[in-house]
Amino acid sequence: MSNEITYETITTEEKDQIFYITINREDKLNALNIQTLSDIKNAILSIYDKTNIRGVILTGKGSKAFAAGADIAEFANFTVEEGTRMSQEGHAVLRAIEHCPKPVIAAINGFALGGGNELAMSCHMRVCSEKAKFGQPEVNLGIIPGYAGTQRLAQLIGKGKALELLMTGDIIDANSALQLGLVNHVVPADQLILKCEEILNKIKSKAPLAVASVIQCVNAFYEKRADGNNLEVNEFGNFFGSEDFIEGTNAFLEKRPAKFRGK
Ligand code: COA
Repeated sequence: MSNEITYETITTEEKDQIFYITINREDKLNALNIQTLSDIKNAILSIYDKTNIRGVILTGKGSKAFAAGADIAEFANFTVEEGTRMSQEGHAVLRAIEHCPKPVIAAINGFALGGGNELAMSCHMRVCSEKAKFGQPEVNLGIIPGYAGTQRLAQLIGKGKALELLMTGDIIDANSALQLGLVNHVVPADQLILKCEEILNKIKSKAPLAVASVIQCVNAFYEKRADGNNLEVNEFGNFFGSEDFIEGTNAFLEKRPAKFRGK
C-alpha cells in the first residue's frame, strides 16, 4: 500500500485497484468538519480519471463510528449565511461522491448519524457491521439534515419511514437498516472491509465504461431532486437564526437535554 497525497483529516491508500478513504478523527467519532468534507471531496475527485482505480471504499477510523454527524462544535456559532454555505458545500461534496464514475461503497463500522448517514447515503452502496447504528438526529439540535438527507433517505427507504426517522430522530440498528433497504449487507465487524472488497472485486471484472454508465444513468433518474435539494439548503441555513438551534447545540455541548420553544 502507498500513500499518495497527505490530507489533514482523512487517510487514503491504493491497493489492488481499490482506493480506500478513512475518516481519521476517531476522538470526535469521525465528526465531519469543513476540512474533512473538503478532504473527502479532493480525494474522490483525485481518482475520477485514474484508470487503474476501479472502486472506492469509504470508512471511519476505529470501531465506534463511521461518522457521528457534522461537527456540532464547529457549526454551533454559525450565522444563517455560514449555515447556508455549509449546506451548499456539503451538498457539493456528496454529489461528487454520487457522481464518481467508479463504484463507491460506504463501509459503516459504527455510528452513521446525521451528516454521517448522509455521507453513507451518497455512496453507491452501503455495507455495515453488526454494531452499526443509523439515524438523522438533527431535530434534537433544532435543525434538519443539511447534506441532502431529507432527499436521499426518502429515496432509499420510502417517504413514510423516512419521515418517521427524520421527525423522531430515532437511532436504528444494523438489522433494521437492512430491513429498510438503507444498507445492502450486514456483516460481522471483522469482515466489513472484506465484504466491500468482495463486491468491488466482482465489479472489477466487468467493463469499466459500462459500470460508469450504470452509475450515470441511475443517477439521472434522481436528478429531479434538484428542487428538494435547494429547499433543504435554504431551510437548513435559516435554522441558524432560530432560538431552538442555539438551545439544541448548546444542550449537546453541555451534555444536557434540550428544551425547545418553537422559536
Ligand atoms: N460533532 C462534534 N463532536 C462530536 C459529535 C459531533 N457530531 N459526535 C460526537 N462528538 C464528540 C463528543 O463531543 C465527544 O467529544 P469530547 O470527548 O471532547 O467530549 C466525543 O466525540 C465522543 O462522543 P461522546 O458523546 O462522548 O460519545 P458517546 O458514546 O457518549 O455518544 C453518540 C455517542 C454518537 C450517541 C453522541 O456522540 C452523539 O449523540 N453525537 C451527536 C450525534 C448527532 O447529533 N449528529 C448529528 C449532527 S448534525
